[in-house]
Amino acid sequence: MYYSDEIIEEVRTRSDILNVVGSYVQLKKKGSSYFGLCPFHNEKSPSFSVSPQKQMYYCFGCGAGGNVITFMMEYENMSFQEALEALAQRAGITLPQKEYTPEEKRNADLKRVLLDMHKDAAMYYYMMLHSPQGARGLQYLTDRGLTGQTIKSFGLGFAPGTAGSLYRYLRQKNYTDEQLKDSGLVRLRERGAQDVFWNRVMFPIMDANNRVIAFGGRVMGDGEPKYLNSQETRIFDKSRNLYGLHAAKKSRLDYFLICEGYMDVITLHQAGFTNAVAALGTAFTANHASLIKRYVDRVVLTFDSDGAGMKAALRAIPILKEAGLGIKVLTMKPYKDPDEFIKNLGAESYQERIRQAQNGFLFEVGCVKNEYDLSDPSQKTAFHEQIASRLLSFSDEMERTNYMEAVCREYAIDFGEMKRKVNSMGSRLAPAAKVYEPPKSTAKKPDPEDGVRKAERLLLTWITEEPSVYEKISDIIMADDFSSPLYKRVAAMIIDQAKAGSVNPGQILNAFINDQEEYKEAASLFQMRLPQELAGQDRNRAFTETVARIKKNSLELASRSADIKELQNLLMAMNELQKLQITLD
Ligand code: GTP
Ligand code: MN
Repeated sequence: MYYSDEIIEEVRTRSDILNVVGSYVQLKKKGSSYFGLCPFHNEKSPSFSVSPQKQMYYCFGCGAGGNVITFMMEYENMSFQEALEALAQRAGITLPQKEYTPEEKRNADLKRVLLDMHKDAAMYYYMMLHSPQGARGLQYLTDRGLTGQTIKSFGLGFAPGTAGSLYRYLRQKNYTDEQLKDSGLVRLRERGAQDVFWNRVMFPIMDANNRVIAFGGRVMGDGEPKYLNSQETRIFDKSRNLYGLHAAKKSRLDYFLICEGYMDVITLHQAGFTNAVAALGTAFTANHASLIKRYVDRVVLTFDSDGAGMKAALRAIPILKEAGLGIKVLTMKPYKDPDEFIKNLGAESYQERIRQAQNGFLFEVGCVKNEYDLSDPSQKTAFHEQIASRLLSFSDEMERTNYMEAVCREYAIDFGEMKRKVNSMGSRLAPAAKVYEPPKSTAKKPDPEDGVRKAERLLLTWITEEPSVYEKISDIIMADDFSSPLYKRVAAMIIDQAKAGSVNPGQILNAFINDQEEYKEAASLFQMRLPQELAGQDRNRAFTETVARIKKNSLELASRSADIKELQNLLMAMNELQKLQITLD
């Protein structure tokens, strides 16, 4: 931790969650909570809730949850420190400056130093491009059709062929070997320092806030590798950045063009398509998709026309779809990529291709079709089954029907027959596909583990909302009775606070803030729906059963490793448990 628990707690309590989340998400009051459309997944009806009492948010749809700090971390893609600083500023709190341990300070500083260093390096490469040494680089870029304005706005540069020139430049700027060694820009060897990039034209990679975080370098002409990219560093995470995003996010269009290469992005921008971005020489990830979803709701894929490009598109589509993005796929045939297309046919033809872009689903079906010989009846049937199973991935009935119509029209398939196939397949696969209600008989047998977990969550929520109930069970349930290490930790904190009179989930969640999976799971522990409508005996019975279920599981687990004597005690305790009756009020 960089900051003391006290100061973190102060920032948290002075940042009202309703206020903070409300400035990003439109919320409506419903009972004691507020509801809105979840910013972390795509949905049409609100299942994202904010509870002012608990100072927490939770999405019943996707399970995202946490406190005001994790909200900022998730939504703004910030580190814990950054989120804390942003909230402190918002609340008018001045954070103390000297809370860092020496090591933490070094790490925090390193990030700042690396950003400065990359800025300096970009400046150096840019200067080199416009120096006599860089003449070949400038010629190369000009030959590829880039204007001076484009070269400037993308900050393109040149890494000279002289060994270690960037290294010497950065040393002159007072960066130390210690700082340089993790930068990905130089290699420190026994026989001396080497630059990673030499004799290449340089493409600075910027994050959404215009900060240079890495480089791609291209050989001029043929050579291997064609592009050399920075390794991942403390400031560069390939899966969370997109080339061109800093410019595309200002384009004001409601979709992004997604292409494969740096040159494609640059040519598209130069031709007026300022909404083009590319992944950084890697496959598309869910992080990329949610990054895009922050700015637009639709994408048009403009991947290379070759087999590799088609495969890349097929892999990207489900990921983008999962993030709730509408997808179209553009063809550049007979040209290979946007760069070639625009050079040959110009911007207007490209605009026309955008207009004609094919729906992502029909594109997928078109690719699948190539794997079947439709003149063979059995292969034709298999193809139709493929279509049916893909149609099942649309959970919205109307959407599915629309796609069914479109695909049947395109492949001259009888609509009624396709519908029957989809329905029968849907009822077979129902639990996974979530399309139709599964008939009770085929429903999956409940996992007893899940039942225990559910009981544990219910009890923890119960104690959170009514801390006094813990008194009734303090000699039965202890933190150790919970089944997983995470549940044990949360339970210990809740029980401690319950004994003191009130439970503060927002505060407890701070303990898990460094691990996204953990805090999500921890947040879910406070979110069961309590059987509030229950009263009197029914309520007592529900509570007793919950407690008994947890204790029984705990005893069973203990009995697995118990010796004979302990086992007898455990069995006795289990017997006792059957008589358990707790009266709440
Ligand atoms: P050119 O037009 O030939 O300059 O390249 P391009 O922008 O059309 O790129 P291409 O379609 O060849 O490749 C797409 C992207 O993949 C590039 O922008 C790079 O990010 C990445 N890439 C291409 N070649 C290499 C390589 O040799 N090594 C690595 N690491 N990445 C590469
Ligand atoms: Mn190209």
